[in-house]
Amino acid sequence: MIYLDNSATTKPNPAVLESFQQASERFFANPSSIHQLGGEAEKLLSKAREQAAQLLHVQRDEIVFTSGGTEGNNMAIKGTALEHQGRGKHIITTAIEHSSVDEAFKGLEQLGFDVTYVPVDENGVISVSELSDAIRDDTILISIMHVNNELGSVQPIREIGQIAKQYPKLFFHVDHVQGLGKVPLELAGSGIDLCTISGHKIHGLKGTGLLCVKQGTTLFPLFHGGNQEQALRSGTENLAGSVSLVKALRLTLERQSKGIPHMFQLQQVLRHKFSGMDTVKINTPDDAAPHIMNISVPGLKPEVMIHTLGEQKIYISTKSACSSKQSDESKILTECGHGTDRSTSALRISLAYDTTEEEIRTFLDALEQAIHQLKAVME
Ligand SMILES: Cc1ncc(COP(=O)(O)O)c(C=O)c1O
Repeated sequence: MIYLDNSATTKPNPAVLESFQQASERFFANPSSIHQLGGEAEKLLSKAREQAAQLLHVQRDEIVFTSGGTEGNNMAIKGTALEHQGRGKHIITTAIEHSSVDEAFKGLEQLGFDVTYVPVDENGVISVSELSDAIRDDTILISIMHVNNELGSVQPIREIGQIAKQYPKLFFHVDHVQGLGKVPLELAGSGIDLCTISGHKIHGLKGTGLLCVKQGTTLFPLFHGGNQEQALRSGTENLAGSVSLVKALRLTLERQSKGIPHMFQLQQVLRHKFSGMDTVKINTPDDAAPHIMNISVPGLKPEVMIHTLGEQKIYISTKSACSSKQSDESKILTECGHGTDRSTSALRISLAYDTTEEEIRTFLDALEQAIHQLKAVME
């Protein structure tokens, strides 16, 4: 099997699975229970929180464990909007966010919030000055993804953070789900108030994640109940999930200094090959994150290609897994200014630290052959 769909999800690391199982078996008690077993579970949770904070260079009480990226994004966006609406109802995001951000903004629009969707250029990047111009007296939130999940384009988060800092009453949220372990982002001193991370994109488990909530950032909770996770996320804690997430986070951060250049090198192999194929158009910009390569093969239906490669146990994807069952057209590519020939024929190849050059070369041979055969059938 050659798995090149790591932006959709990654294979769990065996060490992560082991930590989940151990924590589940040995620390199954409810951390809120006052007996000794509950106390031990609470201690382990607190240790996991401490470790996550150390790894991310933030404070312990700035870590809120969640069920993943979708929850983290909704908690940050709706939580900020609902809590601070008395001060203003203008919120800003980009035109190419993941659906968990985009739909949260659409939902808030229905509740009467005024949204500015900052457009992107042909490389899928916003203009910092355009963003800056969009800020108004009643703006309470800016939410911008670090790395785009379809294209790999990287937004200028550091510069935006510096702008956000000039507006102390405005909160800045970053969806870092595709960036973690691929494009380093230092949170301390960045101007970022809220940052979303998901476990299953970094060889952790589905249903795990965290939201960094900077001290002084207040949110209206989406879940009310027993006041767990600093009353931001009521519900009995997923202790084993949180422990396993911290393990995945540590392993990823330990490996990134070698893993990132390795993926860049593989991306170059892909880029070099694709730039010599006249049937292929490269959509991912040159300065993108290392793990994503998005191409279009105009005239070919992506699902046919996915199927053909899948028969050879080679797995790539069309666009983001969350939207790939909906329509052929990529909203992201359309926002970048591409026509339907390109926006309806996109394929995404996404890498992991363990992807090998041999796998990439086998994939490229199979892809070239498949394009050749499919084009021949159409003629
Ligand atoms: C950029 C981005 N944000 C958020 C999410 C949602 O994360 P999760 O699957 O953990 O809910 C994804 C998942 O594809 C993503 O790529």
